[in-house]
Amino acid sequence: MATGTQTGTTDTARGTWGSQMGFILAAAGSAVGLGHIWRFPYVTGANGGAAFVLLYIGAVFLIGVPILFAELTLGRHSNRNPVGAIKAIVGNSSWKYLGYLGVATGVFILSYYTLIAGWTFGYIFKTLLRDATTFDQFTNQGLLNAGLYMAFILMTVGVVYGGVRGGIERWSKILMPILPVLLLFIIIYSLTLPGSMAGVQFYLRPDFSSLTGQSVLVALGQAFFANSLGMGAMVTYGSYLSKDQNIITSGLGVVSFGILISFLAGFAVFPAVFAMGQSPAEGAALVFVVLPEIFNMMPGGILVGFIFFLLLSIAALTSTVSLLEVPVAFLIDEKAVRRKVAVWLMAGVTVLFGIPSALSFGAVDFFTELPLLAGLSFFDVMDYIFGNVALPLGGMMFAIFVAWRWGILNAANEIALGNRKFLGVQSAAWGFVLRYVCPVVIFVVMLNTTGVLGLIGL
Ligand code: PFF
Repeated sequence: MATGTQTGTTDTARGTWGSQMGFILAAAGSAVGLGHIWRFPYVTGANGGAAFVLLYIGAVFLIGVPILFAELTLGRHSNRNPVGAIKAIVGNSSWKYLGYLGVATGVFILSYYTLIAGWTFGYIFKTLLRDATTFDQFTNQGLLNAGLYMAFILMTVGVVYGGVRGGIERWSKILMPILPVLLLFIIIYSLTLPGSMAGVQFYLRPDFSSLTGQSVLVALGQAFFANSLGMGAMVTYGSYLSKDQNIITSGLGVVSFGILISFLAGFAVFPAVFAMGQSPAEGAALVFVVLPEIFNMMPGGILVGFIFFLLLSIAALTSTVSLLEVPVAFLIDEKAVRRKVAVWLMAGVTVLFGIPSALSFGAVDFFTELPLLAGLSFFDVMDYIFGNVALPLGGMMFAIFVAWRWGILNAANEIALGNRKFLGVQSAAWGFVLRYVCPVVIFVVMLNTTGVLGLIGL
């Protein structure tokens, strides 16, 4: 499994993907995670069902895909992590801080993402043991949460430790094909519950009246988060590509697989939620509160619950792997640190930042309601800064960097090495969107996210 068919370059000290399929599965593994199966259904539920799904698909193809191509190209061209990739093009200029922002964002998102991933892992056993503690009681237990957190970080370390081909690619090839199978199983179960069709109707009938300006923002944020864009994860994964691999077809493959999984996750969740007369707008609790109640009541629910949380854990693991790989690649490339040392170092740093997040669900009052921040928790603040602001900001800057600083022609020539047909109309269209549409749209949405538009009365 570790040594797939070679497509050009041999495995250097940095590492390369063994095959195009290996890359697609690893990148899809990074993309498909809690963002698809946990976050997508609840933001869809809160934003008008199918209308939001359409908005999301629009955001992915208009903004996400062009930036995905830009990140992958930058990585493949330079063979480097985000900081090194920028330095390879413009030397030691201030642009390098965009790379540092990416590396830092990787560590910070990993620090709180692992916490939720740890819950999903814990819920596998909670379901099997028919443990009746509520979600609040569960997240309040500091020691249990710390244990689950450590377990998940250790699994992530275990994969990243093995390197690009022997770790990340190998595990993606094993785990990714399992996902759709598990998901289909849950969908069939969910659709056969009495009363489930109301959920399908809610999900598929677009209610455009419930879309607000806020929904556009959420859709764009989701397009970044769900496709792992804006922090150089795709620069890093792109840096392990060989020149003859086709960035356009693989990139589109990754994005389409992600959309398919998100869309299917809705069919797993909404029919069950409606069958039990629950509200689809439950928010973040949908998966950890509403679904376990359903699993508890239905025949065969234990098995289905077990499969569901296993599914979520697998999806989360291939994502935490990519979050850790970004700072690890940075240390390997820029500081000549050996992979194994880099992995432990970065895992250690992540755990340190994760502690306050883990304690912000009631265990310690200070972190649960931060004094100066309107009672938001430490976890909320991290997710807001790094999940909602840093990714679109980084994505906008990557678009500007590639389009205006490196140059569309240079970038397009790099893409064309593995796809001759790209030069011409395709690259012109991509260049236009990356130059003008992406920066302007993201800028306006960011002004809105950060409340600046509100301040100036718009
Ligand atoms: N795409 C992941 C998800 O949807 O859960 C989260 C993520 C992974 C975001 C890697 C950013 C990233 F670089």
